[in-house]
Amino acid sequence: MIRVLLVGAGAMGQAWLEAVRDDPGVQLAGVVDLDLAAARRAAPGLPVGTDVTALAATTGADAVIDVTVPAAHHAVTTAALFAGLPVLGEKPVADTLARALSLVAAADVSGQLFMVSQSRRWNPQLFTLRAMTEALGPAHAVSTDFHRAPRFGGFREQMAQPLLVDMAIHAFDAARFLLDADPVAVTCQTWNPPWSWYAGDACAAAVFEMTTGARYVYHGSWCSPGAETSWNGEWRVSAEHGTARWDGDHDPAGPPVDASEGRYSGIGGALRVFAEALDSGVTPMGEVHGNVLSLAMVEAAVDSAAARGRPVLIDDVLARAHEQAVREESRADVREVLRGWTDVQAALQPA
Ligand SMILES: NC(=O)c1ccc[n+]([C@@H]2O[C@H](COP(=O)([O-])OP(=O)(O)OC[C@H]3O[C@@H](n4cnc5c(N)ncnc54)[C@H](O)[C@@H]3O)[C@@H](O)[C@H]2O)c1
Repeated sequence: MIRVLLVGAGAMGQAWLEAVRDDPGVQLAGVVDLDLAAARRAAPGLPVGTDVTALAATTGADAVIDVTVPAAHHAVTTAALFAGLPVLGEKPVADTLARALSLVAAADVSGQLFMVSQSRRWNPQLFTLRAMTEALGPAHAVSTDFHRAPRFGGFREQMAQPLLVDMAIHAFDAARFLLDADPVAVTCQTWNPPWSWYAGDACAAAVFEMTTGARYVYHGSWCSPGAETSWNGEWRVSAEHGTARWDGDHDPAGPPVDASEGRYSGIGGALRVFAEALDSGVTPMGEVHGNVLSLAMVEAAVDSAAARGRPVLIDDVLARAHEQAVREESRADVREVLRGWTDVQAALQPA
């Protein structure tokens, strides 16, 4: 039995409470939120607090689930790791790539597992599409069309790049998983139509060059009423021996494959994988080292969009983030590890 502290009792925190409730191998030890009343509402009768380190000490919890706002991920997860607790964190790994690199180094220094729950990767249909992609031989292109018209209100409608930063990371991460490849460069344009209810750019078109030479093409919009796609978007894999397609909601269409590999689904799946990893000591998919390049895709796309579609190299984005991480790091032990990285891509290989 793993006793977890939930940090962040907001909208997504409620979904995580249910995932914890539904997993017989996991128990809630307490809830942390800056808003103590929200923490109390989330877990009547259980210990609550505003500080993860303090509540970890008084409850003797085994692990932390970090469901705070992205700007708090770095501070909360760093505190938990150095309090000796493994962490399962919501996407994005951090609000900036520099802070994501700091968390990679913090995981290395503390020796604790930090897994990012990129929940849309844990989808049995995506695992099937991946098996189909493998069966089709070398892919030359994968594409996602994502078109919806949600009215969220709140922070998303104020962000400069709501679609790229808040949503597209799921698709970018899934593309890496599908192709078993990493990004090399991107060219991206974003725009906002006159009728958009977002302050920032609600539409984006990006082409990524991947390490295999394949291109990943993303076209998305958050202000596209009518004929909406699924929340996963519509996918097409074009490869030497044929094509596979997925509407994001139903079983994909493509060559016959063994579909038994994808046993885990959504945040409940991520929680189970995290719990099993703590038990076995085996590094799980989603461990922070392997997740960071999905956030790098987002930052590179944002940079390219700011330069009106100029190609941006992932290595350049990583190098700049690394310099920033060293400059901003407040822990001497983490800074020393970051300073020792001569090749950021190599440092992102799982230990
Ligand atoms: N995987 C998905 O599909 C999905 C969907 C929605 C949100 N998310 C992610 O979940 C996370 C939370 O999003 P949300 O919609 O629940 O946000 P939210 O604003 O509803 O809730 C965040 C909570 O964190 C608390 N908080 C902020 N800073 C804190 C700190 N330093 N210590 C303790 N508590 C703190 C806030 O008081 C708030 O209660 C984000 O990273 C978001 O990207 C993921």
